[in-house]
Amino acid sequence: MTRILSLAQRLTSPLLPDDYLTLIDPLLAQNSLRGRIVSIESHTTRSSTIVIHTARPVPPFQAGQHIGVGVDLNAVRHWRTFSLSGAAPLRPTQTLHVTVKATGSGGVSDHLVNHAKPGDILFLEPPTGEFTLTEGGAESLLMIAGGSGITPLLSMIRTLTVTDTPPYVHLIYSATTRDDMVALAELRDYANTMPWFKLTRWESTVQGRIDQSALAQIEPDWKDAVAYVCGPAAMLTAVDGWWREARLSDQLKIEQFQTQLVVVDGEGGTATFSASSRTSDAPANEPLLTVGEAAGVLMPSGCRIGICHTCVVPLKSGKVRDLRTGRVHGEPDEPIQTCINAAACDVELDV
Ligand code: FES
Repeated sequence: MTRILSLAQRLTSPLLPDDYLTLIDPLLAQNSLRGRIVSIESHTTRSSTIVIHTARPVPPFQAGQHIGVGVDLNAVRHWRTFSLSGAAPLRPTQTLHVTVKATGSGGVSDHLVNHAKPGDILFLEPPTGEFTLTEGGAESLLMIAGGSGITPLLSMIRTLTVTDTPPYVHLIYSATTRDDMVALAELRDYANTMPWFKLTRWESTVQGRIDQSALAQIEPDWKDAVAYVCGPAAMLTAVDGWWREARLSDQLKIEQFQTQLVVVDGEGGTATFSASSRTSDAPANEPLLTVGEAAGVLMPSGCRIGICHTCVVPLKSGKVRDLRTGRVHGEPDEPIQTCINAAACDVELDV
């Protein structure tokens, strides 16, 4: 096989065999995973579930895992990480579901919700992630979702609906309003027909934020359950504190989809992206990732919240500030996560 590929490469040089294959059909690319949008289901004006047929089977993913999705916007490939929302398959699959909420930032999420259509090709990274259901786990699960944090939990619940002996599951689903709740009809249907599943809706515009006493009222046995929580950073920080206080941190699994950034009262600088020959102002509070993107640099990125490390590039000179903690750091050749670091002075990045 290697010899055949090498012969093909010589025959097609200077292009690669992949270049010709993708001219025939973009899904034929061998060196990267791609998928075609099969259908799009709108949930609210701001969120949709995209069903993707992958070019080749991907290994069975676990409920709660996520994938990287890349789209070309203004001739630059942008990546975002999305939780898979379908039930986990038992065998390799070519069908993936991602549930996406538009953010208004004009990025990948907005493109998928507002402009994508069946037939479009998406670039994909294989499923990964540690926020998964534990095998042979607890008798009782407490799930708390904030806004789009429902997505990985939806995958877990859908997976449990097809297992023989699901545990008791209480989902507390918090969103700004009822209209912002994705798959609400489906969840209510589970609550009405599956004795092991309980749903509590929480509308934050009416009821405020869930606090510890509200939690104890909604689920008096919360300390006995294994908890899965996904939502905005402020929610996760609060929940993490409650479980710590109860000395039950080992029963808590959390997944964040936003990073809580500190407000920095310091200096930024000028960012030089040396391999791209671009330079731009780099404010003290702006991640170098978005500084680079705005300057037209092809910045690698994935989750954009400091989890996946896809955005790492080497620092050539200068210092950066971690926007989660305010810590200033940086040595020559140090790998920098550009999505959560900003310039703390003039910086040069090798990208
Ligand atoms: S894009 Fe995932 S860590 Fe930066």
